[in-house]
Amino acid sequence: MFRRKSLTDLLSNPPADEDLHGSHPGEHGLARHLTVRDLTSLGIAAVIGAGIFSTIGNASHDGGPAVSLLFVFTAIACAFSALCYAQFAATIPVSGSAYTYAYASFGELAAWIIGWALIMEYAVGNIVVAISWSDYFTGLLSGIGVNVPVWLTMGMQSAHKYYNEVLALMQAGQPLPAAESAQMVGYHAWSTAPELFGGLRLVIDLPAGLITLLITAVVYIGIKESKNASNLLVLLKLIVVATVIGVGVFYVNPANWSPFAPNGIGGVLKGVSAVFFAYIGFDAISTTAEECKNPQRDLPRAMIYALIICTVLYVIITLVLTGMVSYTELGVGDPLAFVFQKVGLNWLAGVVAVSAIFAMASVLLVFQIGQPRIWMTMSRDGLLPPVFAKVHPRFHTPSFSTIVTGFFVGVPAMLLNMDLVIDLTSIGTLFAFALVCGGILIIDPYGRSDARFKVPYINGQFLTPLIMLIGLGLLFAYNQAGLREFGSAVRGDGGYEEFRHYIPMLVFIVFCLALAWLSFRKKLSLLPTLGLLTNLYLMTQLGINNWLLFFGWLIIGLALYFNYGYKHSKLGLKNRPVAS
Ligand code: ALA
Repeated sequence: MFRRKSLTDLLSNPPADEDLHGSHPGEHGLARHLTVRDLTSLGIAAVIGAGIFSTIGNASHDGGPAVSLLFVFTAIACAFSALCYAQFAATIPVSGSAYTYAYASFGELAAWIIGWALIMEYAVGNIVVAISWSDYFTGLLSGIGVNVPVWLTMGMQSAHKYYNEVLALMQAGQPLPAAESAQMVGYHAWSTAPELFGGLRLVIDLPAGLITLLITAVVYIGIKESKNASNLLVLLKLIVVATVIGVGVFYVNPANWSPFAPNGIGGVLKGVSAVFFAYIGFDAISTTAEECKNPQRDLPRAMIYALIICTVLYVIITLVLTGMVSYTELGVGDPLAFVFQKVGLNWLAGVVAVSAIFAMASVLLVFQIGQPRIWMTMSRDGLLPPVFAKVHPRFHTPSFSTIVTGFFVGVPAMLLNMDLVIDLTSIGTLFAFALVCGGILIIDPYGRSDARFKVPYINGQFLTPLIMLIGLGLLFAYNQAGLREFGSAVRGDGGYEEFRHYIPMLVFIVFCLALAWLSFRKKLSLLPTLGLLTNLYLMTQLGINNWLLFFGWLIIGLALYFNYGYKHSKLGLKNRPVAS
């Protein structure tokens, strides 16, 4: 279970006929087409999407203009992780991303767990994006007078929930929400939908399913086609984001920035999931390591370039949005289009809405490329059945895995509610990021690796404990209310129900103390340590119910591992003594 893969093993894992620096694939290999520009572009393609076009609205509504600081803080956590990803990518340039890195640092069990958690990032993340895409798309269709029946535009889970809510209001004789509200649309969808059986109605988000089908087809046909499609979409997306900033800036009224944090730190932190979601994706390019011309040099650079570009854009966009209209009005699903409507620029609102559709399609594309490649790598290691590693003879893409990903994303996207999946995506990804930072601490705690890129070593002996103390000081200075609530829950004033919400925080505090001690004793490298801590801290903000769901998911994964992967692991079979 704790068997680790040696670097030699990892690097010889791709089929032997593959030429590491040529662009022609061997009989079974993937095609090497990607350069640093393509990779940066793929990174941006994966990052700028539903987060900035949609979920930023509610985050700004809860936290006010101070959410821009949350974007900075989250970017710092991501930057630590990006450095660690980059070192791993330079050391082990094979598909599989964090999964492969964990195999080298923690061993097989942790690798499996990460591979399993990454399904949350890629496939489940894509469910969020597909649903969000469909919302914008159907909104646009109705804008030009094409009205799709509502029971074909939303998930069964949401419609059923809204139907019950509205029914309860009706039975209680209470006033109903506005006709265009999500509840009323859901009620309408459920009541007009064809009946299936046992009271179940046929309510599906058809556009979400169709876009997944289309993107899966592009990814199936080839990485070159995917690359060209993605480069084009990114260009369009950057032009629109630049326009939003360039025009929006003239409509900023600085009075809207005050109060800066109307609901305190608690309000800002409500946006953690949404803001983190907006950054997810820069790591996805590491799954294309076997399709890069020069992965060791280009992957680290591209990840860092993509992260820097997106951070700058995000912080400016947040300031522009919250400067253009009061944060109180931003709790909408299409905030970027909404603010321009508010200032009377309807044509620009339309342009933004159209481009959101392209922006989100490109996120779908990159994640739909990433997931099959992780499965392919896991299958090559024997942890998944061999068919997951099958490469299409003509298209040179992992064909079976690509189709399974299409189903895994497309079907739930047609049925599920978005809120559920967005938190799961964030928690799964933060977990993977934390393990990648921890992995660097294990394989290279003193920055001595001779990889072509490594995380700069800064001695954390005194700095790690000192930074923790500064963090604590800031909490005392700025979040007295939060500390009081924490104290009261831990003392048990609110009983177990309140206490359980702070369990992740308590675990985090114990972890911090242990890491401070270890850093002091062993002079651990500062940056990966901070990466580990910031990612875990963000995880503590995601709510105990999400933690429980996430653990449930991990337990299913473990059951699969012990029933299949453990027995079929190639590394395990290689090391097993031969019976005489
Ligand atoms: N960061 C990606 C998005 O916001 C997942 O859509």
